[in-house]
Amino acid sequence: MIYSRIIGTGSYLPARVLTNYDLEKMVDTSHDWIFTRSGIVERHFAADGELTSDLALHASRKAIEAAGIQADEIDMIIVATTSPEMEFPSTACILQDKLGIKNGGPAFDMQAVCGGFVYALNTADLYIRGGQAKTVLVVGAEVLSRLLDWNDRTTCVLFGDGAGAVVLRASGEPGIVAAKLHADGQHRDLLKADPKIAMDGKAVFKFAVNVLSSVVDELLEDQKMSGSDIDWMVPHQANIRIIEATTKKLGLDMANVVVTVANHGNTSAASIPLALDTAVRDGRIKAGQNIVMEAIGGGFTWGAVLIKW
Ligand code: UT7
Repeated sequence: MIYSRIIGTGSYLPARVLTNYDLEKMVDTSHDWIFTRSGIVERHFAADGELTSDLALHASRKAIEAAGIQADEIDMIIVATTSPEMEFPSTACILQDKLGIKNGGPAFDMQAVCGGFVYALNTADLYIRGGQAKTVLVVGAEVLSRLLDWNDRTTCVLFGDGAGAVVLRASGEPGIVAAKLHADGQHRDLLKADPKIAMDGKAVFKFAVNVLSSVVDELLEDQKMSGSDIDWMVPHQANIRIIEATTKKLGLDMANVVVTVANHGNTSAASIPLALDTAVRDGRIKAGQNIVMEAIGGGFTWGAVLIKW
């Protein structure tokens, strides 16, 4: 039986930090409103000329180094992004070139907005299980600051830029144990960018808490596991209140949840690999533990992945 294991993680945040107090000078808002509604304190914004593929490159190099492999061993690249630097070519192809990979392995982007990383991880896992790839670089990279509508204070205070990456490799041991993905396009107008981000925050909030807890339940039931078997939950970091409400619904303890939203804001497809890398590097996530990732994004798309670390 072939499984895929994460053998290295990496992440990157642009140097420029904007606190809620900085935003107070730009829009009619307050630190207190942003913090109590979302848990966000600060976010990173890419510098002028810093592109989605640049963020992806920094995060990927760290993941490749942590994996202890040569870049050319990567035979597939998937970049989850909703803020690519151009219509085409894909950020994945640009990243492949910037990494100096010349082995001709496939590279493509995945667009499932904030659900993008779990979609990409599941896709990479299926390629590895199917024997079509051995070493896959999966990246979540976003420059959402370029999609913000600065005339809409309900959204422009919530998002940030960043990138996270993992290297997945074929293995005889799990690995990625299971994944569940869903979408429901009927709700596509509740959260969209055309071209700037617009959102019905309350409606997204309600939908998110319901489907995130049910998709994790679905995943655990399939594996005959319960919440107490989860060592770490690594949720999409959109809003601390969504994370807390989902955690409560699942009967989990916040002490087992990796939370980075205060310092990253909502970085869409990058938020899970950013949080994952944080918890791997600070030693919270350890070999043998059960990790669950869950996310929801525009579409709506949502899903969850269970990993034996
Ligand atoms: O990746 C998934 C993507 N999105 C999400 O997860 C977001 C989900 N939704 C949310 O996180 C929340 O709904 C928000 C953080 C967006 C909003 O929180 P809320 O508790 O739903 O806000 P609210 O509707 O209760 O508050 C709205 C009030 C309005 O004032 P009035 O009409 O009550 O007087 C707004 O004008 O807050 C006002 N408001 C602001 N005030 C200061 C809206 N934005 C701001 C702001 N600063 N930035």
